Amino acid sequence: MEMVFIIFIPFALMLLMAGFLVVAQVSGFIQSTFFNNRQHFSNMIIQQYVERIALAQTHIFQRSKQLEDLSGKLALSNQELAQLNEMKSKFLSMAVHDIRTPLASIRGFGELLIKKKMGEREERYLNHIVSATDQLNRLISDLTDLAMIEAGKLKMEKAIFNFPDVAKDILPGISINAQKKNVELIVHDFPEGMIINGDKFRLSQVTMNLLNNAIKFTPAEKQVELFFKQEGKYITTFIKDSGIGIHPTETKKIFGKFYQAKYQKDEKLRKKGWGLGLAISHEIVKSHDGDIGAISRGLGRGSTFWFKIPLKKN
Ligand SMILES: Nc1ncnc2c1ncn2[C@@H]1O[C@H](COP(=O)(O)OP(=O)(O)OP(=O)(O)O)[C@@H](O)[C@H]1O
Ligand SMILES: [Mg+2]
Repeated sequence: MEMVFIIFIPFALMLLMAGFLVVAQVSGFIQSTFFNNRQHFSNMIIQQYVERIALAQTHIFQRSKQLEDLSGKLALSNQELAQLNEMKSKFLSMAVHDIRTPLASIRGFGELLIKKKMGEREERYLNHIVSATDQLNRLISDLTDLAMIEAGKLKMEKAIFNFPDVAKDILPGISINAQKKNVELIVHDFPEGMIINGDKFRLSQVTMNLLNNAIKFTPAEKQVELFFKQEGKYITTFIKDSGIGIHPTETKKIFGKFYQAKYQKDEKLRKKGWGLGLAISHEIVKSHDGDIGAISRGLGRGSTFWFKIPLKKN
């Protein structure tokens, strides 16, 4: 039995050492292969990124070349556009002149014939001719203003004056329009000392556009009111009507060029204009560092248009 132990112990020790050796070698082998693999893997990823960066650089280069070509073309079309715009302006000013001259004589002779008292029917026809020429003249003025706005040439000739004067000058003509349509025009007291630095003619044009709209979109026997309020450093003009009203989604849109409210169903009223008056008014007010807007409680519930202009600093 002792013999067995004597032989077995060194044998077992040797076996144990051999075991350690094998484990150490295997783990070293595993570690080194794993480490090598990791490095190899990282290298592969780096390689892929380098390739992708190179590809991206090629794309960027191609795109910047395309961009260069495009901006070249754009510069050319900008030049062409500027030329076309210039041609449009020239054509417009020539057309305006050529239309206005015969229009003035049609209107003049029409009025002359009305005075001749030719008969009721003839007088009615002649009145149609005169009012049609007025409408055309107004369209021509609006188109000219629009072209000037687009060319950045609508200059304000500013002077210092008492703001409510803008309404005083135009009220006689507006009252006639209201009377013709049987709309009551209520003008509230004009405040004193509302001094501004502005273009009186252009601001009268804004007031006239708003008042004429109010009369146009208000049925007979209803009212249109004009009043002013000082609001801080501004003087605000209000034109309130009891007319057809505006859908809430359109109170801003109507200040766009050629925009006429789509929810209003009256085709006849729409045909009486071109959707230019408010767009021009907006530009004029903007040129005075002011603001313009419309409020309505909805279709059929009237509207209030307002515009504000800064008072002159003391
Ligand atoms: N007081 C108002 N009540 C209801 N709708 C209005 C009123 N004022 C303007 N609108 C709406 O806004 C639209 C644009 O007004 P704008 O004055 O620009 O054009 P227009 O009166 O139709 O034509 P133009 O002024 O060129 O003769 C009108 O067509 C109308 O739909
Ligand atoms: Mg109008």
